[in-house]
Amino acid sequence: MKKIIYIINGPNLNLLGKREVSIYGNTTIHDIERECKQLSLSLNFELIFLQSNSEAQIIEWVHQAINKESDIIINAAAYTHTSIAILDALKVFKGRVVEVHLSDIKNREDFRKFSYISLRADKVFMGEGLKGYLSAIKYLF
Ligand code: DQA
Repeated sequence: MKKIIYIINGPNLNLLGKREVSIYGNTTIHDIERECKQLSLSLNFELIFLQSNSEAQIIEWVHQAINKESDIIINAAAYTHTSIAILDALKVFKGRVVEVHLSDIKNREDFRKFSYISLRADKVFMGEGLKGYLSAIKYLF
């Protein structure tokens, strides 16, 4: 059976390219999806690439992944720093969890330094922009 990887993106990441360009650059969520898709074809896995501004929706997707024996790559965006609910959902998930951030959250405002997701993540990539997503995928192979 083909390996399944969920890539779950949180709030405001749909605005990449327009949003705080000095921090996040010109890369859009579609650029990220396209490059991840390309890698999924060469590595032969099923990619489920998702983005939502809703915490509830992100939790639902983690629940979906629980039933599919997949791995998860997650950029929970601002929910990274606030969401015990997403952390709790990830704790039920048995596969590997890779946390990704485009920016280096350890070198920004203090309120970004703590990540609930990191309490469950097997690996974290931050500060590499789009490349961080590709590193996360490669880490899972
Ligand atoms: C982010 C960092 C978060 O602090 C922020 O709220 C985001 C994006 C990143 O990818 O660098 O929305 O997760």
